[in-house]
Amino acid sequence: MLTENMENTEKILVIGACGQIGGELTLALRKRFGNGNVIAADLRAPDTTAETALPYVQLNVLDKLALEELMTAESFTQVFHLAAMLSANGERDPQAAWKLNMDSLLHVLDLSVKYRVSKIFWPSSIAVFGPDSPKQRCPQQGVTAPGTVYGISKAAGEYWCNYYFEKYGLDVRSIRYPGLISYKTLPGGGTTDYAVDIFHSAVKGELFQCFLKENTVLPMMYMNDAVRATLELMDAPAEQVGIRTSYNLSAISFSPKEIYEEIKKACPDFKITYQPDARQQIADSWPQSIDDSVARLHWNWMAAYDLKSMVADMLDNIGTKVVVKA
Ligand SMILES: NC(=O)c1ccc[n+]([C@@H]2O[C@H](COP(=O)([O-])OP(=O)(O)OC[C@H]3O[C@@H](n4cnc5c(N)ncnc54)[C@H](O)[C@@H]3O)[C@@H](O)[C@H]2O)c1
Repeated sequence: MLTENMENTEKILVIGACGQIGGELTLALRKRFGNGNVIAADLRAPDTTAETALPYVQLNVLDKLALEELMTAESFTQVFHLAAMLSANGERDPQAAWKLNMDSLLHVLDLSVKYRVSKIFWPSSIAVFGPDSPKQRCPQQGVTAPGTVYGISKAAGEYWCNYYFEKYGLDVRSIRYPGLISYKTLPGGGTTDYAVDIFHSAVKGELFQCFLKENTVLPMMYMNDAVRATLELMDAPAEQVGIRTSYNLSAISFSPKEIYEEIKKACPDFKITYQPDARQQIADSWPQSIDDSVARLHWNWMAAYDLKSMVADMLDNIGTKVVVKA
């Protein structure tokens, strides 16, 4: 946190600022560095009512010229590049996913070298792991042989980040996020989206139809932890950031049945049915838990939320929102 006598010298660009992570990360960055020093950019038309409203630039990150114009107009010290097509949507249009996920990253890396951006954040995912990776406590160096185009793009992206670090000295930092759970923002087409949707059904008193089987355990994390992890990694002294592909990060692993049972303690009439779809195959290819000991060692990472505390906080906040609207 900046104190009154600390001068802020940061100018930050968040690309994909209207997404599930971007919305919350932009708010956290603005709280810390001041509204005017954090520019939100997204393909979406500006929403003047949103908390992420200003300063806002409508940007297609695939338009390298437009990105370059923005980077010449502002001398960014940090760029957070979050725009991507996620796992489930990516399987519906693999070519478009590859193009968005790869071309955009290369634009950001290339222009960041050209305009001497001090630090870059680009998220990877547990989707870099595949059917041949260890299912339990998948290690930092676990086999990355992904089974989805999204995972392939993240695995390739990690090597591009490492390449730019080694070749050009670009200070790129990355986290392999697990499935993220948030109440302020909605998920954007991933395989773990059910773990957010389930809360909205619970507070509305609706039957929840889960697209994964009841015992499908996946690594997950509460958004508060994910935002804090991102800021902590970006704060770490460069020499402590020993992994320049992407860090494994872990918090909670649970199945649809386990989260349902935890929610049911607060919403006793809540009902669930299981109707697995194509996302089941993606989920089955991923590890069930992640070993994040390297992140703990290098920059003292430690998750704060477990299943119980996350469910309580989600219900408090979503419940409050529903009451306010009614
Ligand atoms: N949410 C998760 O559970 C999760 C897990 C692992 C990794 N990640 C990664 O974190 C990043 C952010 O994920 P998210 O969940 O916030 O995604 P999201 O889909 O919610 O948001 C992505 C944002 O990017 C914007 N966007 C799409 N195409 C664009 C373009 N051409 N130019 C500019 N903006 C564009 C979208 O409008 C959207 O607001 C992604 O790289 C994703 O792969 C997310």
